[in-house]
Amino acid sequence: MFNYKNNILTYSQLKENFSTINDIPFFLSEADYNFLSFRVSLYIKNEEIKLKNIQSSSLELKSSRKRIELYKASKLKVLNRLKGTLKNFFIELNQERLPQSDFNPYLELFFKDWLWDQEDNLSYIDQIPTDSKNILFLGCGAARMAYEYAKKNPSIDVYATDINPINLTLLFNQNKTKLFDVVKHPKELDKTSNKFEFSSPDKLENFYPFVSDFYTMDLQKFDHIVSNWFLDILPNDINTNLSHALSFLNDGGQFTYIGLANFYNKSLEESFTQDEIIETFQNYFADTKYSTQNFNYLNTEYVSQKRQEQLLIINAKELKSQKAKRFQSSQIKLRFNQDVANKKMEFQTYGNFLKHIDSDLSLEACASILEKEFGFSNNEAINYAKLMISKINS
Ligand SMILES: C[S@@+](CC[C@H](N)C(=O)[O-])C[C@H]1O[C@@H](n2cnc3c(N)ncnc32)[C@H](O)[C@@H]1O
Repeated sequence: MFNYKNNILTYSQLKENFSTINDIPFFLSEADYNFLSFRVSLYIKNEEIKLKNIQSSSLELKSSRKRIELYKASKLKVLNRLKGTLKNFFIELNQERLPQSDFNPYLELFFKDWLWDQEDNLSYIDQIPTDSKNILFLGCGAARMAYEYAKKNPSIDVYATDINPINLTLLFNQNKTKLFDVVKHPKELDKTSNKFEFSSPDKLENFYPFVSDFYTMDLQKFDHIVSNWFLDILPNDINTNLSHALSFLNDGGQFTYIGLANFYNKSLEESFTQDEIIETFQNYFADTKYSTQNFNYLNTEYVSQKRQEQLLIINAKELKSQKAKRFQSSQIKLRFNQDVANKKMEFQTYGNFLKHIDSDLSLEACASILEKEFGFSNNEAINYAKLMISKINS
C-alpha cells in the first residue's frame, strides 16, 4: 500500500524501512520528518516558556494560585511525558527567541478516544459501510474509531494515518502509563488536572496505523476512505482537499465524510452550510447519501462548557474519477488579500509597541511610548493606549 519510489511496501516493510516509535512507522520523506520534528519540538519548547511565564505568585486568591500551580505542574508532567515518548524525534531547542509553532497537538483526542466514555465518540461507527477490502482513515487522531472498526471487521485491512505523532505513538507499548488531562476551564478547582492510567489495547492483525502528511503522502489507492472530523480543519478549500483525498480512491471506491454539518470559517466564501457540503460531494460522486445527528463534542464530566454540534455523515459512491487531483505542494502560497493587509498592519503596530515592554506599565507610560513611536499627540496617545492595553490584555 505504501508507494516508496515505486517499490510498493507492505506495512511490515514500511516499519523496516522507516523510523518507528512505539511500533508506529513514520511514512515521511527525510525533509518532512525533520520539519515535523522541528514543529513538534518548537511546540513543546513554547509551551514550556508559556508555563514559566505564568505568574501565579502575584495572584490574590489562594484558590486561583492553587488552580494555576496545579495546571502548571501537571502540564509540565505532560510535556515531559511527550518528550520521553517521542525519544530521538524530539530535539531540545535552546534559542531564547523562538517563533510560535503552528503545530496543534490535539492532546484532548487521546483522552476522548481511549480514556473517556465512548458513547458519543463511537455513536456513528455503524454508519460506516463495511463492504470493502481495505479502508483508509484520514486524520485518524488517536485512532480509536479506526481501531474499533478493524476489531469489528477482521476481514477488512484498516489503515489509519495522521500527521500528529503524539497521539499515535502513545497507543502501543503502554502499561498503566499515567496521563494527565489538564483543562483550562474546569468545572471545579480540583478538576484542573485529571489523572488517568492507560494500558495499550491488544494489537490487531488488520490494523495499520502510521504517521504521514495528507498533502505529501505517497500511497496506493484504497477501496474506501473515511474522513472523520478532518476535512474541515485543513488549510486550503474543501474542493482542493476533497479532490486530493479522492486521488487515493479506487475507481468504484467509496468515501465516508463524518464531521460538522457547518464549516465555520472567518471568511464568508470558505464557510459552508450542510447543503453546500452535500453539493460539493455530489459534484464528485454520482451516488451521495447522508444523515445527520446531534453530537456532544468533546464531552467530559469536568469541563465547564458543553458543546453540542450537528453531525453530518455522508456516504458517497460512483466517483467521477477525472475530478480527483493530487495536491501539489507548489500550490502552497501566501494569498495577499485584505485580511492579510489588515493583519500586517496590526502585527506591525503591536510589534513596535511591545518591543518597549518587558514588565507592567502604567497607562501614562504606555501613552508616552505611543507618542514617541507613532508621533501621536498626548491626547490621542492616551486613547490609543487604552485601546491597545485592552486589546493586548484580552
Ligand atoms: C479534529 S482532529 C480529528 C481527529 C480524529 N479523526 C477524531 O475524530 O478524533 C483532526 C486531525 O487531523 C490531523 N491533521 C491535520 N493536518 C493533517 C495533515 N496534513 N495530514 C494528516 N493529518 C492531519 C490532526 O493532527 C488531527 O489529529
